[in-house]
Amino acid sequence: MAGHEPIRWQVQIRDVVFGRNVIVVEPVNLYECFIDDECFIGPFVEIQRGVRIGKRTRVQSHSFICELVTIGQECFIGHGVMFINDTFQTGRPAPSREGWKPTVVGNRVAIGTNATILPVRIVDDVVIGAGSVVTRDILEPGIYAGNPARKLRDLPAHGTP
Ligand SMILES: CC(C)(COP(=O)(O)OP(=O)(O)OC[C@H]1O[C@@H](n2cnc3c(N)ncnc32)[C@H](O)[C@@H]1OP(=O)(O)O)[C@@H](O)C(=O)NCCC(=O)NCCS
Repeated sequence: MAGHEPIRWQVQIRDVVFGRNVIVVEPVNLYECFIDDECFIGPFVEIQRGVRIGKRTRVQSHSFICELVTIGQECFIGHGVMFINDTFQTGRPAPSREGWKPTVVGNRVAIGTNATILPVRIVDDVVIGAGSVVTRDILEPGIYAGNPARKLRDLPAHGTP
């Protein structure tokens, strides 16, 4: 059976404002976003329009950072971390961007491999465990994990294991 030619778009880096000394491992799909000094962006990452990423933050391979997400400085976004801006609140994907919600991640936040982050606010100095699903705002520093993510414990005092 003869098929049809699909419309083919390419992954690209388009209209991105980079700070100094940013490392990007291609292929990536980055557009209309801002990535500050000394960030690292691993391969197979998508970062969408309007996203802002602070200085020295590392985004590991296969992560998806959607519109309306802001990430602070010195964060670690693990492999395959997925952000969400459309919660399907009306029972289906929002018909327009007006139905999307923002996420704000503070500074020094480490998000473990394969975590999913719904539209929330996360304060500074937080660790999110691998595979967690963050469904509510995280308003105090600490280590959180699970689905839904709950606080496991405080962060160790600086310099202790
Ligand atoms: C969340 C995390 C930081 C917790 O580490 P920890 O404080 O040493 O926790 P522990 O191993 O002592 O586990 C404490 C409890 O939390 C549970 N737990 C730990 N990590 C969990 C996770 N990711 N999801 C769900 N539960 C988790 C443990 O099963 C244990 O439960 P129990 O008390 O009922 O047995 C760590 O497990 C983790 O997920 N780190 C992410 C690492 C990562 O993704 N790195 C990416 C770069 S390779």
